[in-house]
Amino acid sequence: MSHESATAIESLNPFAGNRLGIDGLSAATSAAVADNTVTVTFADGVTHRFHAQWLRHSCYCEVCGNPADGIRFTTVVSFDSGITPTRVDAVDGDLVIAWPDGHSSTYGNDWLLHNAYDGVAAERRRAWRPTVWKSNLNEDFPTISWSEASDGGAGQLRLYQLLRDYGIVQVADLGDDPERTEELAGLLGPIHETTVYGRIYDVRAEPIAKLGAKTGMPQAPHIDDAFYYSQPGIDVFHCLVNTSEGGMSTYVDGFAIAESIAAEDPTAYELLTTIPIAHIRRHPGEIDLRNRGPLISLDEFGRLAGIRYFDRALAPMDCAPELIDAMYDAVRAYNSRMLSDEFLTQIRVAPGNGMLIDNHRVMHGRTAFDPTLGRHIRLCHVPRDEFHGRLRELSRTLDPRGHDVFLPQGSSNF
Ligand SMILES: [Fe+2]
Ligand SMILES: [Zn+2]
Repeated sequence: MSHESATAIESLNPFAGNRLGIDGLSAATSAAVADNTVTVTFADGVTHRFHAQWLRHSCYCEVCGNPADGIRFTTVVSFDSGITPTRVDAVDGDLVIAWPDGHSSTYGNDWLLHNAYDGVAAERRRAWRPTVWKSNLNEDFPTISWSEASDGGAGQLRLYQLLRDYGIVQVADLGDDPERTEELAGLLGPIHETTVYGRIYDVRAEPIAKLGAKTGMPQAPHIDDAFYYSQPGIDVFHCLVNTSEGGMSTYVDGFAIAESIAAEDPTAYELLTTIPIAHIRRHPGEIDLRNRGPLISLDEFGRLAGIRYFDRALAPMDCAPELIDAMYDAVRAYNSRMLSDEFLTQIRVAPGNGMLIDNHRVMHGRTAFDPTLGRHIRLCHVPRDEFHGRLRELSRTLDPRGHDVFLPQGSSNF
């Protein structure tokens, strides 16, 4: 690599060291080392303990480099596991460490407090919870105007936070220009193209329909493309024409159903979180898509991470024979809640409005409509990684304390 290109890379990734640039956090006031562990006390009396080798590995000085930009020279094999500082000091609110080989590291208080892995720091990063909802969501549906959502600042962050917290947000006054579908998607990330939907999909009744979507038939709430290893992330809907009768949009919070099953039917919950179900979609001569994964995915803390269920695409159950009946009962426990008045909300989406849906949590469907009345919805998908990545980055300037909270990583396949 030439020096010119390294300089170019550095201009895009200015050196920050172990600092986040977040003001107002407590300064480090003292530091002590014992048993390969550094204890740092902060001005508010909180202490955090850091393993010496963790600190050595986490040095982001110009020699060691920064994992965030991938220009990194220190790895876990660059030092011995028993490395211990020769000196630790709190200097001007920072932690400064001298290492046996003469290397020096400086950690800003904000960086330490945001990366500490014990006590309140670890709890803060795990503190985010979804706002679960049931059928009465339609009485106060999370909604934001297009002009606010596309302001590139606080409005856009508000859009992101509504989608993060509710798993669904309506965007009002998007207008009926078909180009706006892509502009709305562009707020979240690049469009994810699939064989089933292509790049942008026009949902309207057609005389010869390849997909159920292109009929006037009702559709039970579902997760789009649950038969992909990685199902689409965010559904971007844009309503161009709706009907005045039928064609109601229906939504269900899969996390609310999961919580209900966990509370009322622990046996079903255990099965749905540990035994895979399978989904299938085949377009003859073109593609045969299959996935196995749990209906409810959990993260390492047992928190809800994702939902994967598409009633019409559920493949024959393929698990241990002694579990077949119990698995049908478990899936039925989910499916019956999904259709119930307790969980299913419905609204009529007005022409010119958009709807963003977390397809790893919130299920969508519709009631029947007269296919001759011209209902027309445009649809595309954006990966969740892109959405969460932009949410974090915008938060860094507008809501820096929350920029690094753990968000659910979606449906998994184990
Ligand atoms: Fe769908
Ligand atoms: Zn270093």
